[in-house]
Amino acid sequence: MHFQWYPGHMTKAKRTMQEDIRLIDVVIELVDARIPHSSKNPDIDQLAANKSRILLLNKSDMADPASLDPWIRTYTGKGYLALAINAKKKNELKKVNALIQEACREKMERDRKRGILNRPVRAMIVGIPNVGKSTFINSFAGKACTKTGNKPGVTKGKQWIRLNKQVELLDTPGILWPKFEDQVVGQHLAFVGAIRDELIQSMDLALDLIEFLTESYPGTLEQYYHVDESADSAELLCQLAKNRGCIAKGNETDYDKAAFLLLDDFRNARIGRITIEKPE
Ligand code: G4P
Repeated sequence: MHFQWYPGHMTKAKRTMQEDIRLIDVVIELVDARIPHSSKNPDIDQLAANKSRILLLNKSDMADPASLDPWIRTYTGKGYLALAINAKKKNELKKVNALIQEACREKMERDRKRGILNRPVRAMIVGIPNVGKSTFINSFAGKACTKTGNKPGVTKGKQWIRLNKQVELLDTPGILWPKFEDQVVGQHLAFVGAIRDELIQSMDLALDLIEFLTESYPGTLEQYYHVDESADSAELLCQLAKNRGCIAKGNETDYDKAAFLLLDDFRNARIGRITIEKPE
């Protein structure tokens, strides 16, 4: 399967982010906990050089629970403050506040030594499309937070959300483009639905997913769709189609419908909590 995708508007998004990042102290990066490697754009390392870095493994409710700690350890080892979250669960996000405080401690100390008091630390959310940036901002900051902006000392046009006395969050997230010179990365992004479906061949993708699942999570498809996992992936898709009534005109097996069904079930974790990428 071959993926090629680099939308032109991403160049503009990168430029905007370069400008925004200059204004902030802490970069809070969201990745998809099911693909923590492929959903992370390595260019952010350059863009966010010299900034404090927080990495949130979002959608952790859909990832294999056993994979979360190893990934947190991996990213902690790379110098991030890392945490697994579910951006939809407001209550679980309190821990993020503590991480921001920790990330900012040095900066606050530096400010204090220079005699700068009460200057809020500024944070920004970044991540690839669909990783949950807007959901996170809504749950974390909430509607009750005061928005500031367009006033003296605040950069024109930027909206900041006051989280507390010490921290402000830029209300527009930075959009990173997925990067896949590597076809496997493209495949993994497609599995979780991070690439628009019109750009990919659903059938090939579904067959690839069947191969992955039978190998890495044996028994899962058998249990959910009552199919025989000893069959090859095409035969398995055929069984799935029959069991789920995916029949086209003329009583033909509707493979496209079956492929779509499988991908949709997987992307919504109906099949179970599954992580595609394990740390090295
Ligand atoms: P973005 O700003 O980064 O582009 O992503 P956005 O917040 O729009 O989230 C993309 C989709 O992912 C949304 O689903 C959102 O509800 C879902 N989502 C975000 N964070 C989490 C999480 O931690 N767990 C789960 N399970 N889902 C999450 P949607 O189907 O596009 O919208 P909706 O039907 O939820 O409104």
